[in-house]
Amino acid sequence: MIHIKSEKEINLMRESAQVLKLVLNSLEKEIKPGITTNYLNDVAERIIKENGAIPSFKGVECPYKGGKTYTHALCLSVNDEIIHGIPSDRVLEEGDIVCVDLGVYKNGYHSDAGRTFGVGKISDVAKKLIKVAEMAFFEGIKYAKPGCRIGDISNSIENFVLKNGFTLLEEYQGHGIGKEMHEDPGVPNMGRKGSGPRIEKGMALAIEPMICEGSNEVYVKKDKWTIATVDKKLTSYYENTIIITENEPEILTF
Ligand code: MF3
Ligand code: CO
Repeated sequence: MIHIKSEKEINLMRESAQVLKLVLNSLEKEIKPGITTNYLNDVAERIIKENGAIPSFKGVECPYKGGKTYTHALCLSVNDEIIHGIPSDRVLEEGDIVCVDLGVYKNGYHSDAGRTFGVGKISDVAKKLIKVAEMAFFEGIKYAKPGCRIGDISNSIENFVLKNGFTLLEEYQGHGIGKEMHEDPGVPNMGRKGSGPRIEKGMALAIEPMICEGSNEVYVKKDKWTIATVDKKLTSYYENTIIITENEPEILTF
């Protein structure tokens, strides 16, 4: 069931997103060669706590058999890893790209966002990959308004990414968000125009293009969380939580 948010609920979500933005801004400044992904996770946890919020990802059950419950604030996925990378003592090196995914829970409401950052100097293809995921999000939300359908967003993201010579992850998608981190409707990154649920004022959606430089074939690593490309080529990721209004959507986490 799709839950339409009241103005009061949207205000609470804005506060949650405000904390998330603080974290993203700090992480962007911290990312440089020589730091570990654990360190970035510590920074995020501290800021979330200082602002009276809780990391949304802590306590999420592993979707794969035999995997442990998630215990970190961030998912940090480096290079060929695209999503759900677990923070570790891995040291970031010049030329790496790191996908940062973050959920914040405050006042009973979640916000969810992701970015891909370059570590020091990165290759031209890495730069393009980061840009295309970001731009795909903005292409998608051109259709995030009443009168359109979810499939219009999906189709717009898909067309833009393929036109730029990259591929999209098929197995994972965006989602409704609110009291739960994952609510209806699912928001696929590929799809047919005119398909899927109608978009209505007051919907809260997390839209998240996940794109690959090469083949979109992925596998789950031994940790049962990290999703990485089979061909080891680069990936990038971009996500924001938005609210549907009568006109342009409000991007809470931007
Ligand atoms: N942020 C992911 C999403 O956008 C979910 C992360 S799964 C978690 O749907 F376990 F790490 F929380
Ligand atoms: Co999400």
